[in-house]
Amino acid sequence: MESARLLHSITMQGIGPTPENLRLRVAMLGVDRLLRRVVSERRRSGGERRDLLAMILAAADADGAPHARVRDELGVFLLGGHETTASTLTWLFSLLARHPEVDERLAREIREVVGERRPRLEDVPELRFLDSVIKETLRLYPPIWLITRRVASPTTIGGYRMKPARPSCSATTYCSETRAGSTSQGQGPSSGPPPHPRGLRT
Ligand code: HEM
Repeated sequence: MESARLLHSITMQGIGPTPENLRLRVAMLGVDRLLRRVVSERRRSGGERRDLLAMILAAADADGAPHARVRDELGVFLLGGHETTASTLTWLFSLLARHPEVDERLAREIREVVGERRPRLEDVPELRFLDSVIKETLRLYPPIWLITRRVASPTTIGGYRMKPARPSCSATTYCSETRAGSTSQGQGPSSGPPPHPRGLRT
């Protein structure tokens, strides 16, 4: 029942003048103002920066894309890029605090691979246990736990009829990864090769 209520509140987002939707619209205006400022400051300062913003602005200028398009592209990176990683790290440290044996093993791996120097990109493939810990964190607490899609025309998939609507259907990675056949022993849908530290949830 709780998940149905949650799903309803998400799929209804933006529809109708509910207090939540009004707050959402005010928040979106704030994001829009921030992005307009970032773009106009960069355009004023000019220069030869070669970062993501410079690439997006160069592509937009070449296409003659309107500001709304640039704002949407930047918004995807700003919101999609920071909240996902922040949420993952928050849950990762929370899990490590609850599982000192995993924490110790991870610290040992980092000491062996990186030592006292600063970590480098080339270290990443060597940090196999860290990779497993991050993946397990994402499985237990996926930052994006609901994905929605809109069909372009009436379609039937797996016996379910879908019509173009916002959204036509949604899938939750949280339920598929932590509920469907998944156990704390690691029999979940994404069971990877050992050493996958399954069952971190307490
Ligand atoms: C733990 C970190 C992250 C997770 C779990 C994650 C998850 C996802 C998921 C599930 C989607 C597909 C959404 C859909 O198809 O409906 C997606 C798309 C995307 N993500 Fe991430 N993401 C992460 C980090 C990032 C970062 C750091 C960036 C960029 C700085 C980024 C940029 C994007 C972009 C541009 C898309 C495509 C959006 C589109 O289709 O227009 N993500 N991400």
